[in-house]
This record gives sequence, structure tokens and C-alpha cells, in this order.
Amino acid sequence: MPKALVTGITGQDGSYLADFLLGKGYDVIGVVRRSSTVNFDRIEHIQERIQIVQGDLLDQVSLIHLLEEHRPDEVYNLAAQSFVPTSFSQPALTGEVTALGVTRMLDAIRIVDKNIRFYQASSSEMFGKVQEVPQSEKTPFWPRSPYGVAKVYGHWITVNYRESYDLFAVSGILFNHESPRRGLEFLPRKVAHGVARIRAGLSSELRLGNLEARRDWGYAPDYVRGMWMMLQQDHPDDYLLATGETHSVGEFVRIAFDHIGLDWEKHVVIDPKYYRPAEVDLLVGNPAKARKQLGWEHSVSFEDLVRLMVDADLAMLEETETKHTSPNINW
Ligand code: NAP
Ligand code: GDD
Repeated sequence: MPKALVTGITGQDGSYLADFLLGKGYDVIGVVRRSSTVNFDRIEHIQERIQIVQGDLLDQVSLIHLLEEHRPDEVYNLAAQSFVPTSFSQPALTGEVTALGVTRMLDAIRIVDKNIRFYQASSSEMFGKVQEVPQSEKTPFWPRSPYGVAKVYGHWITVNYRESYDLFAVSGILFNHESPRRGLEFLPRKVAHGVARIRAGLSSELRLGNLEARRDWGYAPDYVRGMWMMLQQDHPDDYLLATGETHSVGEFVRIAFDHIGLDWEKHVVIDPKYYRPAEVDLLVGNPAKARKQLGWEHSVSFEDLVRLMVDADLAMLEETETKHTSPNINW
């Protein structure tokens, strides 16, 4: 049975990747950091089928010990401080986790077992102020946030350890991918959840920032499949995963409100608090290399993604007791 160690297993992608790897017959080791309250909501359904172990990307020794003890065949490094606005308010922490954390894991692999295959969760945020449209694996980076800068470091240290130490280390440059398991602070889930709350009569407005920014949005389960595909190749290389379509934040909002039969202009309030010090205006990826070499395709259209997220939040509010406690996140 192949064995995979996944950092960030409590996050959106970690939980879907664990689902996927279990389906492929893997023994899954999920790394979680210590916290005063357990946050296993996204992995509750598979908790009995995976091994949950403690470790932290801030702590080198914990990573070395985990690899020594569990001897995985593959490591998926999905852990990060991944929210762009927090990277402006906590830039040094973001650098420690999202940038230097990658080096700590690569060094742990180099020390314990150089045969371990390594996946690094790189990001389209690295393209930032885009140098060409659409973006490809060859497009130069110009990050626009401390998070983007940290991800550029993570990308290049992955390439550097591959070239220096002959590691099977891969950087996956993934464009935005969403799902009902997305954190409430990210735009698509904030909109889906906000629309559902308005429908349920729990609130009447949704406060947002820049509606002009454009993103290439896909469905998260498609993207974790691509991560696994990258590690099954004969040679390590870097790949970009995207849908090849770009849509504005405003379009996302309009389709979400249309879906429940409401006029978005009556409910959305523009709040300068949600504007960023520097914005990434336009992301759209060209996934031709992944299509050709991995056989990867996305399966969910933009419109279907918006609707499935709204439906999931409507169902969540209707079916559970959270109706009165569902959080109204203000980040
Ligand atoms: P997410 O939901 O924010 O999950 C992040 C995970 O990292 C959580 O499990 C978190 O643990 C863990 N983590 C944070 N700091 C840690 C530390 N010091 N040590 C160990 N674990 C730590 O992110 P996601 O959307 O699943 O994204 C997964 C990865 O892909 C991230 O690296 C992200 O930057 C990258 N990425 C995401 C997208 C996207 O659109 N989703 C696109 C490109 C790249 P807690 O639960 O304890 O907080
Ligand atoms: N979060 C948020 N909240 N974003 C808003 C809001 C709001 O109220 N109003 C407008 N936006 C705009 C942001 O300015 C941004 O242009 C866009 O919506 C998307 O924001 P997020 O959903 O927070 O995602 P992101 O694009 O900044 O970053 C995500 O995708 C990256 C890949 O490109 C994260 O998942 C990153 O971790 C990931 O690397």
C-alpha cells in the first residue's frame, strides 16, 4: 500500500486530497498543528481511515521525526498561511510558514530519504501583476502580496532542491479552486454563504471589496487529482492547473444572487475595508501542458461552480442547527 504524508490536511485541499488518496488505496498520514480546539470538520468523515499526527511547518525537528517514523512514499505540502489579506497584516509569519516552511520540509526529505516524492502547493498569486495573458509555466512572476512573494520563494526552493539534490520535487501552480469546504473568508465561499444567509432571512446585506478583479476559478476536487498525477510521472516537472476561463468577482456575485432570484444590487455593499494594498487584477491560466502530459481536465464550469456552492450553503443552513449560530465572517 503506498503511503502519503499530507500537510494542511485540515484545509480545503488537504481534505479532498485525503478523500482521493484513500480511494486510490493509499495509507494517508495527515499532519495537524496543535491547537486548543480541534478543527477536524473537513476530515471528520474519514477520521477513522487516516492517521492524524502532530507537526508544524515552523518546527524542523517535528518534520524530520514524522518522516523517520512514517516513511512515506509521497509528501504533499499543502500547509500554508493561505489568506492574502492576512499576509499583509502578518507578513513575517506568512514568510515563516508559506516560504521557509517549504525549505524545512525539503530539508527533512533530504536528511531522511531522498527517494520521497514531493509536491509543493504553488499558486497563481505568483503571477500577480501579470506579464502575459494567459499565464503559463513560462510566464515570469511578479507577486503583489507577501503571500505571493512567499509562494515565489516556495516555488524556487522546490526547483532548487530538485536541481541541487536530485529530488523528485514538483511545484504545482494552481489557480483559484473552490468548493463547499472552502474557508468562509475567501470570496467565493463568503458570497455563497452570504447569499444563503440572506435567503434564510439571517441578514440583508453582503459587504464586499473590489468587484472588478478577475480570477480563473475551478472546482477543488479536480485540482487535487492533478496534484497526484504530477507525482506519478517518470520525471519531476512543474505544471499549471487552471480552467482557461476568467470571470470577475462581480460576475460571481451576480450569478450567486440570480440563483436564488434576488437582485445583487439591492444587497451588496461596497466596503473599502475589503480592498487590498495591492491587487491582482487578472488571472487566467493556460493548462495546455497539464492537459497534454498529465491528461488532466477540469470537470465543473464556472456557472455550475457558483450554483453548487450556493446550493451547498443553502442546504447547510436548512439541514443543521447552525441556522442561529452560522458565523458572519468579517475578514
Ligand atoms: P487552507 O484551507 O487555508 O488550508 C491551509 C492548511 O495549512 C490548514 O490545514 C492549516 O491548518 C495548515 N497550516 C497553516 N499553518 C500551518 C503550520 N505552521 N504548520 C502546519 N500546518 C499549517 O488552504 P487550501 O485552500 O486548502 O490550499 C492548500 C494549499 O494550496 C495552500 O498552500 C495554498 O496556499 C495553496 N493554494 C491554494 C489555492 C486555492 O485556490 N485553494 C490555489 C493555489 C494554491 P489549520 O487548520 O490548523 O489552520
Ligand atoms: N476574500 C475576499 N473578501 N475577497 C474579496 C472581497 C471580500 O470581501 N471582495 C472582493 N474580493 C476580491 C479580492 O480582492 C480578490 O481579487 C478576489 O476577490 C479573490 O479573493 P480570494 O477569494 O480571497 O482569493 P485570492 O485570489 O486572493 O487567493 C486565493 O487564490 C490564490 C490562487 O490564485 C487563495 O486561495 C490563495 O491561497 C491562492 O493561492
